Amino acid sequence: MKSFYITTAIDYVNGSPHLGHAYEKVLTDTIARFRRQMGDQVHFLTGVDEHGQKVQASAKKRGIPPQQFCDEVSAEFRALLPKLNITNDDFIRTTEERHKKVVRAVLQQLFDKGEIYKAEYKGFYSTRQEQFLQEKDRLPDGTWPELFGEVTEIVESNYFFKLKQYQEWLVDFLTTNENFIFPAYRQKQVLEFLKEPLNDLCISRPRERLEWGISLPFDENYVTYVWFDALLNYYSAVVDRPEIWAEAHHVIGKDILVPPHAVYWPIMLKAAGISLPKGIIAHGWWLQRGAKMSKSTGNALNPLDLVTEFGTDAFRYFLIREMNVGQDSDFTREQFLVRYNSELANKLGNLVNRTLNMTTRYTGGIVPAPEVEEELENGLRQLWEKTQAEFIPLCEGYQFHTALERVMEFLTEANAYVEKRAPFRLAKSAEPKDQALMRTSLATMAESLRLAVAMMQHVTPSTTEKINAVLGYTPGTTWRDELVWGTKLTGAKVAEALVLFPRPAPPEKAAAAPKA
Ligand code: ME8
Ligand code: MG
Repeated sequence: MKSFYITTAIDYVNGSPHLGHAYEKVLTDTIARFRRQMGDQVHFLTGVDEHGQKVQASAKKRGIPPQQFCDEVSAEFRALLPKLNITNDDFIRTTEERHKKVVRAVLQQLFDKGEIYKAEYKGFYSTRQEQFLQEKDRLPDGTWPELFGEVTEIVESNYFFKLKQYQEWLVDFLTTNENFIFPAYRQKQVLEFLKEPLNDLCISRPRERLEWGISLPFDENYVTYVWFDALLNYYSAVVDRPEIWAEAHHVIGKDILVPPHAVYWPIMLKAAGISLPKGIIAHGWWLQRGAKMSKSTGNALNPLDLVTEFGTDAFRYFLIREMNVGQDSDFTREQFLVRYNSELANKLGNLVNRTLNMTTRYTGGIVPAPEVEEELENGLRQLWEKTQAEFIPLCEGYQFHTALERVMEFLTEANAYVEKRAPFRLAKSAEPKDQALMRTSLATMAESLRLAVAMMQHVTPSTTEKINAVLGYTPGTTWRDELVWGTKLTGAKVAEALVLFPRPAPPEKAAAAPKA
C-alpha cells in the first residue's frame, strides 16, 4: 500500500475558528478521503499553533495564563473536527513535549553545524502575521499592507539562521520540481520572489519581550521565533515514522506560502538534512464583501452556525463545490442557498425521491434487473462513461469543484431521463414491452443514483452512506470498482422514503428558531 501523508496548517489559537479554518479542514479531509478511496494508506495531521506574540497578547487580554488560554481555545478547535466529519489521525499542539523536543533537537543540530549565528536585529514586525518585514513589503505610499495589521519597529540582539546561502539551491529545487506547489502559478510567484536576495532569518525573540515560546537550547535568554517552531510540527508529529514523512503534502492558505512554507521550510529541512515534502497545496481565501475573513478583523463567520442550520454534508458540499482550489471566493448566504436548493435538494434529492417512490410503487420496492438492451446504450449511459473517465483525474488534480459539477450534470441528465422515459406512464400500460422498459428504467435510475453518490463520497460521506442504505446497498471495499456501471443493485430492497435536504426556513424564521 502506498503511503500518503497530508497536513493542514496549524491554526493560531488567538480566537475562535472561522469559516476559513473550517474550509481548510474540509478540503484536506476531502483529499484524505479521496486518497483512501484510491487505496492509499493515509496519515492525516491537523493541530494548533500555540506560541508567539499574538497568542501571548490574547491570553493577557483575557487575564489568564497563556497555557490555560491555549487549553481552552485549542479545545474549541479540536471540537470543530467531529462536527465537520474530519478524519484526522492525529492532532498536534505545539506546546506538547513531543513537539518541543524535536524543535530543540533541530535547533541544536543547526547551531552545532554553524547554521545559526548571533547579531543585532533592526527591522519591522507584524504580530498579526507573526512575520519580520522588509522595506520592500511596504506599499508604494510607504504604509504597510492591511494584512500585516499593526507593525512595530524592533531593535534587539538575536539569533539568525543562514537562509541566504541556500537561495540558489532553492531556486534550483523549484526549477527542477515544477509541480512542488499547487496551483502552478503560485510556484512561479515563489520563483519571482526569489529573484530578490534573501535575508538571513531571525529565529529568536529575547525572553523579556516574548516569554511564550520554546527556549533556545543553546541560550535560555531567548525563545524560538514562532514560525520556526510551528513549521516543524509536520515533522515532529511523525518523527519516528520516516515512511510517512517521505510522503508529506501540506495544505495551507496562500497568505502563508511566501515566505514561510515555500522558502523557510524547505531551507530549514535542507539545512537539517531532512528530506523535503512531496508537495504544497495553497488554497485561496473566503472573503466577505471582498475582504479576507479573519479573526483579527472581526468579519468572520462561525462555521458551526451553518452546520447547525444545514447539516455537515451540505456545508462540506458548498465549500468544495464553490471554491476552485487556489482562488478566492466570496461567501454569501444567497449563494449557499442556491447550491443547497438547486443542486442538493433539486438534483440529488429529487432523484432519490423518484427512485424510492417509483420502485416502491411499481416493483414492490425491489430494484429490477435491466432487460431492454437498447436502454443500456442511451445518452445517460454514454454521459456516465465520459463522466467516469474524467472524474478521477479531476480529483487527483484537486479540481474537486469541477468534479462535483460533473456529478451535478450527470444528475441533471438522470432526472431528465426520468421525465423522458416516464416510468409512471409505462407502468399503466399492459404491454409486456412497456413493462420491461419500465423495469429497465427503474434499474437505470437506481444505478445512476448509486454512481452519483459513489462520486460524492469524499465530500458528503454521510449522505452517500444514507443513500446507499435506502437503496439496500452495501458498497464493496474497492471504491474504483464502485464507479463501474452495472447491475450491483439488482434485487435490492429499497426504503420507501428519505428526507435529505429539507427546504430551509426563511431567514426570519431561522433566526427565531431555537438553536439545535
Ligand atoms: O497562519 N479563507 O494560522 P492562522 C481561507 N499558525 N483560509 C483561511 C482564511 C480565510 N479567510 N483565514 C485563514 C497561521 N485561513 C499559522 C500557520 S502552519 C505551520 C502555521 C487559513 O490561524 C490560513 O491561510 O492565521 C492558514 O492556512 C490557516 O487558515 C490557519 O491560519
Ligand atoms: Mg492568519
